[in-house]
Amino acid sequence: MAQSTGSKKIKTAVFISGTGSNLQSLIKFSKLKKSPISIEMIVSNNAKSKGLAFCKIYKIKKEIFNFKNQSTTEKELLLKLNKNKIDLICLAGFMKILSKNFIKKFKGQILNIHPSLLPKYKGLNTHEKAIRNEDEYSGCTVHFVNSKLDSGKIIIQKKVKIKKNDTAKSLAKKILVQEHKLYPRAILKIFTL
Ligand code: GRF
Repeated sequence: MAQSTGSKKIKTAVFISGTGSNLQSLIKFSKLKKSPISIEMIVSNNAKSKGLAFCKIYKIKKEIFNFKNQSTTEKELLLKLNKNKIDLICLAGFMKILSKNFIKKFKGQILNIHPSLLPKYKGLNTHEKAIRNEDEYSGCTVHFVNSKLDSGKIIIQKKVKIKKNDTAKSLAKKILVQEHKLYPRAILKIFTL
């Protein structure tokens, strides 16, 4: 894993598919002096991702890959990442599952944020599952990405209380607020000695 030394920040690409609220919180964080990362590229598999608007607002390079042919796409993507000297990938609401081969090439350098207290509720519909099971808490997790879905080493987690009247929607909203704080904290935890 790259280290942030002196004024040299770790060149980071953020991968998104949708709204990009986690992306925005990462961009804001990256502008702080204490941030070890600089965001050099935003990658989306979806040209209609709302979050792509942040490319223009913050003048960050935009890359759209449709992933129809995953292996060709990933080859092109790897070339782009290498050309731009990207050392860290932050998945933030990215809805494609990267191949084992791709993950191997960026071993230990891909992070993901997941809206549950992993190892509970890997995959989709985490809030529905937590409510259906009448859990007392849910939350969010930032973890390293390995070849098994939502199973890499956990970096940091935040618990969120589930209230009796919570719906999947209200819970998602509460957890998202915590996600925005947790992702920067995870990055600081990894890179600050
Ligand atoms: C977040 O809840 C994230 O944990 C999940 O997808 C959502 C993305 O939201 N994987 P946003 O695009 O960052 O607003």
